[in-house]
Amino acid sequence: MITKNTIDLILDTARIDEVVGDYVTLKKRGVNYLGNCPFHNEKTPSFTVSPTKGIYKCFGCGKAGDSVRFVMDHLSLSYPDALRELARRYNIEIVEEKVEYNQQQQEEHNEKEALYVVSNFAQKYFTQNLLETEEGRAIGLSYFKERGFDAQTIEKFQLGYCKDSWNDFTQHASAEGYKIDILVKAGLTKQKENGNTFDFFSGRVIFPIHNGMGRVIGFGGRTLKTDKSVAKYFNSPESLIYYKSKVLYGLHLAKKSIQVNDNCFLVEGYTDVISMHNCGIENVVASSGTSLTEDQIKIIKRLTPNITILYDGDFAGIKASMRGIEMILKEGMNVKIVLFPDGEDPDSFSRKNDAETVLNYIKTNASDFVTFKAKLGWEEVKDDPIKKSTFVRDILKDIALIEDGLIREEYIRECSRIFNSKEETLFIELGKIRRENRKKQNTNIREELNAVKDEVLNPEKELDILVNEIHINDEIEKEIVRLILLYGHKEILVDFFEEIGEKTLTQVSGAEFIAFELTKEHIEFQHPVYKAIYLETVKCLEEGRIINPQLFLRNDDESIKNASIEISNTPYHLSDNWSEKHGIYVKIEANHLESFLRKIILKAKLFTIKTKLEENKKILSAVGSEGDFEEVLSYSKNLLKIQVEIGNLLGMTILNK
Ligand code: CTP
Ligand code: MN
Repeated sequence: MITKNTIDLILDTARIDEVVGDYVTLKKRGVNYLGNCPFHNEKTPSFTVSPTKGIYKCFGCGKAGDSVRFVMDHLSLSYPDALRELARRYNIEIVEEKVEYNQQQQEEHNEKEALYVVSNFAQKYFTQNLLETEEGRAIGLSYFKERGFDAQTIEKFQLGYCKDSWNDFTQHASAEGYKIDILVKAGLTKQKENGNTFDFFSGRVIFPIHNGMGRVIGFGGRTLKTDKSVAKYFNSPESLIYYKSKVLYGLHLAKKSIQVNDNCFLVEGYTDVISMHNCGIENVVASSGTSLTEDQIKIIKRLTPNITILYDGDFAGIKASMRGIEMILKEGMNVKIVLFPDGEDPDSFSRKNDAETVLNYIKTNASDFVTFKAKLGWEEVKDDPIKKSTFVRDILKDIALIEDGLIREEYIRECSRIFNSKEETLFIELGKIRRENRKKQNTNIREELNAVKDEVLNPEKELDILVNEIHINDEIEKEIVRLILLYGHKEILVDFFEEIGEKTLTQVSGAEFIAFELTKEHIEFQHPVYKAIYLETVKCLEEGRIINPQLFLRNDDESIKNASIEISNTPYHLSDNWSEKHGIYVKIEANHLESFLRKIILKAKLFTIKTKLEENKKILSAVGSEGDFEEVLSYSKNLLKIQVEIGNLLGMTILNK
């Protein structure tokens, strides 16, 4: 174990900006650094590194931590290995001390070692049975031969056979000195209540399961009997060395090929993996019996961002794995799906064809998941309006998980064709879902930041109390639209972290800033034309496009076009009339875009507060001095305070009548 002194030395020496800088291009922004987040795809940098605090955090995806955490996450290393990596980077000598396990740790350590050893022993014995015993050759080997597995394949996958006897294996293992207790824990031996033992895999051909390093950790055993009442496969139970959710069958043989081909084929079972190897395709793993788990996806993600799922045509299987696909998308990975012709699976198909034909089939038949899922489900729901809309929304939810705007746009086009519905409608719905997601995400980021930094948000400045959708008036909407038209594409530096007391400048476009702030405050447009312009803006942002004024000035929609021309040609001031009516004195100023933008957002907030206050007034007069009176009153007082505060920021005098 690495000594505490060494760890301290590493932590003191490692500079977060240097460590991150090895992998991410960082630009200095004030006291901090800014770059593109290595943990998610982004176009606008929101990955912030603070040398003074020794931490990094991503405003976009929420990842945060110190140097060690970064190395762990970025290079997929364990804690001690990350420390070693940092030590190497800074030429620090690692001093280790002998581990003083407590009794329980010692026992676990011993049990793990024992499980590895016994699994290795069992694999050797099963292979020997297969190749060197009469029963094994007659039954097991001839079965494998029939399936097209030759000697080389058997060796590569360390296949075996367990004799069809009550306890041949258990007896042999005991005679070799393996304790019954550990044989049972490894799942190789079963023990009845009366103490009698028997072989779990008897009469089955054996598929050893390996971890990523190639050590045997468990087994799958296939029966050769046609009796439908026994399960076709028996699998080892979980143990200290075998966690099913973290294992991919064939990974140790596929790792390199997955990296080289930058793609991972995912199949259902042992035989699919083996036959594909036989045919010369090695970048293939199986989730083996369980449905795909998040951990399995993460393992693949370290090797490639691309997964191609290969299915046989069986419908139930496809439906069950849809959830897996959603998980893959959430991990920001690309997923394609290939259906094999009726009655074929990857196993049978790759046995009948050579690698080129198989790869070619995969290439021409790979459909992206949206098309796949959409086509698959559409026939079922298309005549039922309620089912139909749930179905469409479901698919939009999947699309919303994709980070790349251009890919999202492609998918929307595809859906619009399949569902025969307007692209525009789908985009609007997609925008809604993405905004909802972002709201949720923002909360997560905050939570994580708090955990990392132990800093409490200053609730005074949060306008969280305004939770419903809030409308602003036409004047403000018009001013926002004007700013979008003129400055939507301009980049500004804003400080999104201001509220948690840290200076972190992030570069965003004017339109992004506006959309972010309005969404945060739940502000919605009302005026039909301004609303259309705003929604189109949001759509562009979601797709990663730049806001182009021509988009509106030459819009097909006459009302959008006319309004855009009119608005972008009139220098706009809030009219005296408006300010009088609202008891606000407007001091016209601002040469800088950022303050223009900030002001209009503040004005929008101010308006929403006014609306809320008026609402409260009505509530107060209705409830009289009973019930929620106190609560509503103190709520109103808070609103008034915030109103004055915003007024000050705007250089306005708020006249609270
Ligand atoms: N499986 C399992 N238990 C079962 C059936 C299946 O664990 N009772 C898992 C195995 O990992 C198997 C995979 O699901 O490899 C796919 O099942 P299936 O297609 O039935 O098996 P194949 O491996 O294709 O076996 P075979 O072609 O020999 O029938
Ligand atoms: Mn099969």
